Amino acid sequence: MARTSDKAARDSVVRFGVAMPGDLLERFDLYVKRRGYTNRSEALRDLVRAELATEAWDRGEHVVAAITVVYDHHVPGLTEKLVSIQHDSGGHVISTMHVHLDHSQCLEIIVARGPAQELEKMADELVRTRGVLVGRIVPAVVTELPVHDEEEHPHPHRH
Ligand code: NI
Repeated sequence: MARTSDKAARDSVVRFGVAMPGDLLERFDLYVKRRGYTNRSEALRDLVRAELATEAWDRGEHVVAAITVVYDHHVPGLTEKLVSIQHDSGGHVISTMHVHLDHSQCLEIIVARGPAQELEKMADELVRTRGVLVGRIVPAVVTELPVHDEEEHPHPHRH
């Protein structure tokens, strides 16, 4: 199978030249410094990864995302409502972390995996629930399980 060597090729580092206007490079170097990178390559790799994740998100690919909500647990039925939304999400929720911030406020971080649009739909539902004070969804990474490929190339189940 060509799979192993393909992976080796993907994992090896390839050098390539980049041409850009001097002022843009100057600004990039300041960014590299501000962010505490030790070299341009490292910074560029992270920028590319972030942009690819955003673009994959826009195309509705499989992603992992963190949904953060802050809510007042005194609002009647709110905790139950938030839990049912997660249960109804089609099994996309992987894990949640709950922090009791103070007497009334709870912070919850929900990690979910699935098609970007479905995760976004769940996040919207959570955020617009009455009593939720702050809500945000952050795309983390693109996963290796594209929706459209599964039938052609079945993957073993991952646990
Ligand atoms: Ni709490």
